[in-house]
Amino acid sequence: MFLGFPIWGMTAPSVIRSFLSKHDLSGKTLVPFITHGGYGTGQSLKVLADHASGARLIEGFSKQCDQERQTLEEVTGWLGRVELPG
Ligand SMILES: Cc1cc2nc3c(=O)[nH]c(=O)nc-3n(C[C@H](O)[C@H](O)[C@H](O)COP(=O)(O)O)c2cc1C
Repeated sequence: MFLGFPIWGMTAPSVIRSFLSKHDLSGKTLVPFITHGGYGTGQSLKVLADHASGARLIEGFSKQCDQERQTLEEVTGWLGRVELPG
């Protein structure tokens, strides 16, 4: 199963911990996809491994949440500064 969440306080939000505690994922494959504010995935992968110890935890995907906006702003700013000969 795919499990998506944001990083809060350098770890998975408590709702994720409580979800994993209440559901037995033994034998299932757990695929995390994570957004964060720039400080990485913190303790979250260890939390998943600890709370879903029967599951097969495979490499997931993580992305800084505002990377796309930053890229757009940077490229737009750069294009605004480019001076091309008429
Ligand atoms: C209460 C709270 C705690 C957060 N703590 C972290 C953190 O420790 N590290 C980090 O990189 N981002 C942190 N963030 C940023 C979130 O990870 C970011 O807002 C989220 O990945 C984007 O998803 P959203 O659009 O659902 O908020 C925090 C955000 C909130 C609201």
